[in-house]
Amino acid sequence: MTTKIKVLVAGAEGRMGREVVRAVTAESDMEVVGAFDMKGVGEDIGLDAGVGALDVAVSDNLADILKTAKPKVMVDFAVANGFEKRAMAALDAGVRLVVGTTGVGEKSMKKIADKAATRKLGVLVAPNFAIGAVLMMQFAAEAAKHMKGVEIIELHHDAKVDAPSGTAVATAERVMAARKGMPGHADPTKFEKLKGARGGRLGDISIHSVRLPGFLASQEVIMGTQGQTLTIRHDTISREAFMPGVVLAVRRIMKKRSFVFGLENLL
Ligand SMILES: NC(=O)c1ccc[n+]([C@@H]2O[C@H](COP(=O)([O-])OP(=O)(O)OC[C@H]3O[C@@H](n4cnc5c(N)ncnc54)[C@H](O)[C@@H]3O)[C@@H](O)[C@H]2O)c1
Repeated sequence: MTTKIKVLVAGAEGRMGREVVRAVTAESDMEVVGAFDMKGVGEDIGLDAGVGALDVAVSDNLADILKTAKPKVMVDFAVANGFEKRAMAALDAGVRLVVGTTGVGEKSMKKIADKAATRKLGVLVAPNFAIGAVLMMQFAAEAAKHMKGVEIIELHHDAKVDAPSGTAVATAERVMAARKGMPGHADPTKFEKLKGARGGRLGDISIHSVRLPGFLASQEVIMGTQGQTLTIRHDTISREAFMPGVVLAVRRIMKKRSFVFGLENLL
């Protein structure tokens, strides 16, 4: 009998965290052994996630969970605040990471990548675990080699606290890398009558963030050149969209010994 991969979920009581608890519990080769959150402390995470009792109580003491539950992988869908501390504690305890939390700064990422290399432990950070979104980024990078002007509109639910989305930033970075020094699109705007009207700029790419009830996570990459535009759009209809990517990452990260950015590099 093979042993199941022991998973700790950070941000377990959140919308994504509970979805992860359901997805991991549905797989035969992995199990939830720990649930870290400030909310719902003492409650059985299985009951809260709707999969029946798992005998795993939510705890706000990460050090204690790492010591007693002995997880192999921590899946983190929480908030950027405190992420570096959580990640470092997990790596120090020999625990690999699968990270969906967005808004984490570059400095923190670098520290975590260095620690992963030193400890020879796999870490996956993915701005988007939905396969359709990964393809959208790949297609956008390919198209941008031929179409100079690129702008991104990302549309999310009204409880998202960071902007722009990690996916929008990752898309812009991939587009710029694919162009390899090709001149970008010059912004013609001379007077911005309303500050921010042209969105946030990453290089020559404008990113516009929409936050409204009704949306979950959508993104449009709009490209323009003489006489034509091309729009690549991805819509996440439900949070289940992220789960095949998360489950795959939990399995594959067990065999990695360093930092990996982007689900496409684990497929
Ligand atoms: N990479 C992806 O594919 C992807 C997809 C969806 C959401 N996300 C990201 O996942 C994160 C969670 O999203 P959500 O919609 O579930 O949010 P949410 O607000 O529903 O859940 C966040 C949970 O984290 C908990 N939390 C807050 N601070 C914490 C801390 N310091 N330590 C541990 N837990 C803490 C909260 O109590 C809450 O239960 C966000 O960063 C979001 O942008 C990523």
